Amino acid sequence: MKEFILEARDIHFVYSDGTIALRGATMAIEKGRKVAVLGSNGAGKTTIFLHFNGILRPGRGRVLFAGREVRYDHSSLMHLRKNVGIVFQDPDTQLFSASVVQEISFGPLNLGLPEKEVARRVENAMEATEIADLRDRPTHLLSYGQKKRVCLAGVLAMEPSVLICDEPTAGLDPVHAAQVMELFDRINRQGTTVIMATHDVDLAYSWADYVFVMNRGTVVGEGLPGEVFCDGQLLQQSDLTRPWLVEIHEQLSRRGWLPDGLPLPRTKEQLFDYIQRASGSGKPALVHLFPRGKMHPECASCNVGRK
Ligand SMILES: Nc1ncnc2c1ncn2[C@@H]1O[C@H](COP(=O)(O)OP(=O)(O)OP(=O)(O)O)[C@@H](O)[C@H]1O
Ligand SMILES: [Mg+2]
Repeated sequence: MKEFILEARDIHFVYSDGTIALRGATMAIEKGRKVAVLGSNGAGKTTIFLHFNGILRPGRGRVLFAGREVRYDHSSLMHLRKNVGIVFQDPDTQLFSASVVQEISFGPLNLGLPEKEVARRVENAMEATEIADLRDRPTHLLSYGQKKRVCLAGVLAMEPSVLICDEPTAGLDPVHAAQVMELFDRINRQGTTVIMATHDVDLAYSWADYVFVMNRGTVVGEGLPGEVFCDGQLLQQSDLTRPWLVEIHEQLSRRGWLPDGLPLPRTKEQLFDYIQRASGSGKPALVHLFPRGKMHPECASCNVGRK
């Protein structure tokens, strides 16, 4: 039987200025999953995340953590926030301590943990996010990407059972973005449920094992990545594009360059493997379609040559 760690049931929420942000949003997050939440600007992703952590309280509807309805008294909220950590979309709304190490220590100290345990968690979190060299820097002087990693480290140090990240890779360079995704995989393997909002359909497709799509304050679609990203109508109505792997796979299949019935590739390595195997001679079929020569004729000194 499925075990849901977080649920939003038919949530309605209106901000104080009268903006209707959620109009009956329902989302059930299965324990131990890697979940991506997609949707265009203003769809309601951040607003539903803030409900999961008890920062916002629904006008109508219910939020459940581990099968129990969330209550909003001090100790219930402390319990929820100890278990459900959220990394905000904008790091400047999260950071408030003078130095990096103080910022990351704040959460574990607040939990009343012994000093030694706090130090262990802080060191682990800094190592995992590769910010140990920034430990004594004032947080307000860091770059945007460094601030994002400090925010993530601060939440990791709480060792939550659910990690919610609002656009974690936005503003990170490619190496650190990949490193954050590896980190998510690692903590997910250790049992943490990871939920992230992203605009990157390629990332969501390759990384997530379950996907929700939001539009205008409701959840308009959900399913396995292969289901969601093949639903052209859903993608169109939600202003989403198809991941490049899905697009290329479909084009190659339509042209008869790949056999019918192959499952959608989740990684580029899987797609290359399909192409390789599709040629009886052992040489990728596509090689015969292009003249030999430099790999990228437009490069002055192409070093991505064929073996
Ligand atoms: N503090 C606020 N006060 C008033 N309206 C708000 C506030 N925060 C968000 N909204 C509005 O609520 C709606 C949902 O916003 P939300 O930030 O949840 O969307 P989102 O899906 O996270 O968008 P994005 O992809 O841009 O981050 C939008 O119409 C937005 O303008
Ligand atoms: Mg948002």
